[in-house]
Amino acid sequence: MEYFESHAHYDDRRFKHDREELLGELLPASGVSHIINIGCDVKSSEMSVRMADKYDYIYAAVGVHPHELYDMSSQTIEKLRKLSDHKKVVAIGEIGLDYHYDTHPREFQRFWFIQQLRLAEETGLPVVIHSREASQDTFDIIERSKVRRGSIHCYSGSAEMAKEYVKMGFHIGIGGVVTFPNAKKLVEVVEAIPLESILIETDCPYLAPAPNRGKRNDSANLKYVVEKIAEIKGVTAEKVAEITKKNAEKLFLK
Ligand code: NI
Repeated sequence: MEYFESHAHYDDRRFKHDREELLGELLPASGVSHIINIGCDVKSSEMSVRMADKYDYIYAAVGVHPHELYDMSSQTIEKLRKLSDHKKVVAIGEIGLDYHYDTHPREFQRFWFIQQLRLAEETGLPVVIHSREASQDTFDIIERSKVRRGSIHCYSGSAEMAKEYVKMGFHIGIGGVVTFPNAKKLVEVVEAIPLESILIETDCPYLAPAPNRGKRNDSANLKYVVEKIAEIKGVTAEKVAEITKKNAEKLFLK
């Protein structure tokens, strides 16, 4: 089986000691065929691009996460634009809104979210969206933009809204949370949307699925996410891995 990891943070310092071993040997040996490493600020976006340069099967997304808006300016957008010229940069992200931590004022978050959506429009790249406790504002801002391709990463909204995103052309990112015993809402989301609209992700080093919950996560754990989606959909794990890989290839690599 081959797995397309649509959302990982291998630039994170929790991978400092074994990054080479994981990316160079262990993950390819456990069937991980592609990884998109996601930037959260300019520095991690640059590091994502360097990792994409080093490994054939790694690609990069560049963007500034709603927690990391500390020195946002038009120059930041220009830096991201420059990075996005690289042939292995396949998305703008992760970008969005986070009203759980509220690290920055909401109006400020919305402003820079809209600017980065514009960058996606201008570059023609899909987006990777982060949204926490901000479902309606995130949806409304995306709907008002011209962007119609991307992943709603670590989706946490309702099944109704997921169907609306799918109608608009977006994919729904499903990760380790779906394996948690209290994931009732997310199970309903997986039931409600077609397999053709699902991407698998870990968001590693965060959100390790059961049975590894609480430990550092990595893309070898995608198999648990795939197994759970297969169980919900009543299909084989092979089919889930195959279709979600095709979905991601079509969205990010074509
Ligand atoms: Ni992430």
